[in-house]
Amino acid sequence: MKTPIPHNIVRSVIEDINLPNFGKATIREIVTITNKIEKLTGERYIRMEMGVPGLEASAVGVKAEIAALQAGVASKYPSLDGQHNLKQEASRFIRAFIDTDIPAACCIPVVGSMQGTYASYLTALQSNSSKDTVLFIDPGFPVQKQQLVVMGYKIESFDAFEYRGERLIKKIESFLKNGNIAAISYSNPNNPSWICLQESELEGIGRLATEYDCIVVEDLAYFGMDFRRDLSQPFKAPFQVSVSQYTDNYIMLISSSKAFSYAGQRIGIAAISEELYYRYYGDLEARYTVGEFGNVFVNRVLYSLSAGTSHSAQYALAAMFKAASDGDFNFLGEVSEYARRAEKVKEVFLKHGFEIVYLDDLGQPIGDGFYFTIRYPGMTGAALMEELMYYGISSISLETTGSLQEGLRICTSFIQHDQYDDLEYRLACFAENHGN
Ligand SMILES: Cc1ncc(COP(=O)(O)O)c(C=O)c1O
Repeated sequence: MKTPIPHNIVRSVIEDINLPNFGKATIREIVTITNKIEKLTGERYIRMEMGVPGLEASAVGVKAEIAALQAGVASKYPSLDGQHNLKQEASRFIRAFIDTDIPAACCIPVVGSMQGTYASYLTALQSNSSKDTVLFIDPGFPVQKQQLVVMGYKIESFDAFEYRGERLIKKIESFLKNGNIAAISYSNPNNPSWICLQESELEGIGRLATEYDCIVVEDLAYFGMDFRRDLSQPFKAPFQVSVSQYTDNYIMLISSSKAFSYAGQRIGIAAISEELYYRYYGDLEARYTVGEFGNVFVNRVLYSLSAGTSHSAQYALAAMFKAASDGDFNFLGEVSEYARRAEKVKEVFLKHGFEIVYLDDLGQPIGDGFYFTIRYPGMTGAALMEELMYYGISSISLETTGSLQEGLRICTSFIQHDQYDDLEYRLACFAENHGN
């Protein structure tokens, strides 16, 4: 069977890597395999495996960061709880785009959302020593589970595919009833499926978090990127939906990586509800001699992890938040390019017999954005991922994300304008070879 990329070369590279189970290959392993094949064949892959921004870093941020460096911030340690102006602007941004009030004091810069989730899980788990588990609403971002493995805590999870609306709330409650869940974790919009939890679902999660006294870690890595609604107008509805409207037990993580294409500088904000920030926990005091949640988060946990967040990047993020809240910088206008790419890429996949796996949010078709999920009738996710390598398309299997569905995550961020014809040709070959 003829394939767009020579079969023997792809086969030998996959065999050389010697993975026990190709379907469980991590993103980084797929990157290595794909780079190697590209080098050997001179063929450019359509890279859909890695969730990295495919756009230039926001110019507003770059300019402010350069100015901060020139002003000499590089030689000075940043304060642990963040630069004053950034805290003010983060609080204002949250009011402008989520319609939630969080005092500046409770908005803490972190070294990417990654550090934010690590610190959030750890502080949540340590605040109540009778709870040792984080509940993940899957599918999800595998590294967050790895963070718990690193810390030595426990994980519960379930695939939201079958559980939306009231069923989702009942499912979460079935875990909370066991009394061991310190935190509930999800991303919204969701990596990898791009499902978006709806207000009614967040309302239910918030209610349960209050009732069972557990902390919601709400990962807004794809802030505002549910492009079905225009969330780009500051201080005007509609807003980014958030559990912060429904409980006081939450930490929101706002990343600069995707919304501002600022992944390289590793900065985000952990926005802790005021009630939680100042809440006293005896178990924290016993361990740290201070008992306030926010105090421990900043002065014990973040101090131990990185002693603050890059000083110059804080100036960048402050400038981007300010320009967005002032209405001078439509950051969602810039990243809506991902939706345009998704629309085109989806169309080509669907035309050639593929199907979308995670299809809708309570009956409303999912939007076009950073990711979507596909399957091909009769093929497992692992087999499909490997098979597409022979057609010059790299992706990751849903298996690695906690999904129980057979399919792939397709990331739209990296496809280049001149690759749509290649995608069309390669998928047409695939369909022909697979009897479609
Ligand atoms: C759901 C989710 N959370 C967090 C991150 C990482 O964010 P950051 O770069 O701010 O650490 C990603 C990146 O891909 C993500 O998909």
